[in-house]
Amino acid sequence: MNKIVMKKVLSEGVKEFEIESPQIAKSRHAGQFVIVRANEKGERIPLTIADANVEKGTITLIFQEVGKSTMLMGSFNEGDSFLDVVGPLGKPTHTENFGTVVCMGGGIGVAPMHPIAQALKQAGNRVIAIIGARSKELLIMEDRIKAASHEMHISTDDGSFGVHGFVTDVLQSLIDKGEKVDLCVAIGPVPMMNASCKLTKQYDIPTVVSLNPIMVDGTGMCGACRVTVGGKTRFVCVDGPEFNGHEVDFVELVKRQRAYLPQEREAREQYQHECGHHNHH
Ligand code: FAD
Ligand code: FES
Ligand code: MG
Repeated sequence: MNKIVMKKVLSEGVKEFEIESPQIAKSRHAGQFVIVRANEKGERIPLTIADANVEKGTITLIFQEVGKSTMLMGSFNEGDSFLDVVGPLGKPTHTENFGTVVCMGGGIGVAPMHPIAQALKQAGNRVIAIIGARSKELLIMEDRIKAASHEMHISTDDGSFGVHGFVTDVLQSLIDKGEKVDLCVAIGPVPMMNASCKLTKQYDIPTVVSLNPIMVDGTGMCGACRVTVGGKTRFVCVDGPEFNGHEVDFVELVKRQRAYLPQEREAREQYQHECGHHNHH
């Protein structure tokens, strides 16, 4: 159980794992996530199910190494197993035929955007994908997003590939060209989702975002993932992770995401000190 059958490095610090998990592979829907614990001492961290293969009984997780737990998990190799993988958690993406849907993914946000684009394409929508990264080297999943969409645009902040600018610049130019967009899905860092929502609001384009607050239990009990949406308190792990982006309090979300920065830095430094360049877990 939870054995790593494939490991790939997608870009610097971004790893892809295919994990044996037949039950989750069978029951998961687009938009859902798992909570993973690497080993007995490991904390529980939420990761989106980026893809699944029912025949092989595997799920795909793609994550960026940003701190202790993701670095520890990134050091695992094919044949190793994670201690536990719990899920599928969260509400599935609401899929119906909306018409033309723009799916925007920024940075690591392209991974959670992938199954949503797949499901919306499957439901009969015309899917326009816009994926972006800081630079060409950091862009992930280009081929798979191309397969999950009818049309794909790419942007990089530094202009090293595709349009020089942000994914919102690409959306603006599509709108300027007269593209009628029925729904927008935006997933990525909070500033990217916030900017996307500001733009789509001007044109009354309904917009779905997938939020990534700190989670602990993932079952609605601990309150760690509390966010405010439309003036109401919601728990992302059970009420989300997808919400109407025009109603999300992004300022509060960022504040809560940063609540443990000193502790996270200390844990990361201690981990890096203990491990040096060895991979033992
Ligand atoms: P830390 O140093 O502990 O933290 C770095 C930053 O990550 C923190 O400042 C905080 O903003 C965030 N974070 C820390 N702990 C948690 C936690 N328990 N839960 C959520 N965020 C936390 N990342 C990916 O790379 N790929 C994914 O597919 C993905 N899917 C996610 C789906 C959901 C529903 C959520 C809520 C988060 C998702 N994340 C994903 C974010 C991922 O969980 C965090 O990057 C990870 O927990 C960081 O752990 P760390 O110990 O390595 O870093
Ligand atoms: Fe505890 Fe959502 S993670 S309530
Ligand atoms: Mg951590």
